[in-house]
Amino acid sequence: VNNIWIDCDPGHDDALAILVALAHPQQLKVLGISTVGGNESLLKVTRNARNILELLNADVPLIAGAKGPLIKPLKSAPEAHGESGMDGIDFPAPLYPILHVNLIEYWYHLLMDSDETITFVGIGPLTNLALLLQTYPDVKSKIEMICLMGGGISHGNITPASEFNIYVDPEAAKIVFNSGVPVVMAGLDVTEKSYLTREEIDSLKSRGGISQKVYGLLDFYNQSGRQFGFENSPLHDLCTIVYLLDSNVFEGKNYSVEVVTDEGVTRGMTLADLRKKPKIQNNILVLLDSKRDRYVSYLMDSLAYFDYK
Ligand code: BDR
Ligand code: CA
Repeated sequence: VNNIWIDCDPGHDDALAILVALAHPQQLKVLGISTVGGNESLLKVTRNARNILELLNADVPLIAGAKGPLIKPLKSAPEAHGESGMDGIDFPAPLYPILHVNLIEYWYHLLMDSDETITFVGIGPLTNLALLLQTYPDVKSKIEMICLMGGGISHGNITPASEFNIYVDPEAAKIVFNSGVPVVMAGLDVTEKSYLTREEIDSLKSRGGISQKVYGLLDFYNQSGRQFGFENSPLHDLCTIVYLLDSNVFEGKNYSVEVVTDEGVTRGMTLADLRKKPKIQNNILVLLDSKRDRYVSYLMDSLAYFDYK
């Protein structure tokens, strides 16, 4: 069993990453979920996390982390995820409890008191993880890896060069990428190939149960994606969880990757050294391709798990 902690900003694709992780208790032990200002304000993404955890009848600690980036103000993404940060269905007022503790202190004790290593799944801006690594560098040996959705070595989405999660807090991303902790990067190179088609989304409509709710979320997400030219819906964040479940679904390559924090058109870019003989040692496993059928079946099987639970 892999011990994991999911740091997120739900977010439609964040919600699905949580769902698939919780559908695999034999393989992934979800120690907790934390939120970070990103897709929407911390208040909204934490409410969305409560909603999804309640819907799944989950029982894991939920802690709210940083409101916004280390240095710059938060730039959210209502154009992709709607006004609530997870539009598409109405949830009842959430009752799911929030653990009111300082996230970084909690993580520190969790790591130091544990005999086993923990994998962090970062699917929002990397602010919380950067704060942990900067405040308590001695935790590094306790971290198995950081498996993150962010960046892209071929292109961006929020700007031509930069992907949203990295762009929102490049200073944090730089700390994570340079930390020496093993990093697996599921960036746009792979996540845009890891999509659901409109037909696959429609197939959920008549299934009832959790699938029907997920249909509502994905229907909204698919329609909002069209304004950016996507007919199919990339489930960006889910790549991290499927990678931890079955790394053979993906192909990747090690690169030396630098996060650009300079002001200007490349701010937030993940610049990979693509030269034949890079001067700096490769530090990041960059996922580049996925077997889409197998990827999609992880989601479909997880939905069935909850529908029939
Ligand atoms: C990333 O940005 C967010 O909108 C998604 O949840 C994902 O983490 C994709 O660029
Ligand atoms: Ca996200």
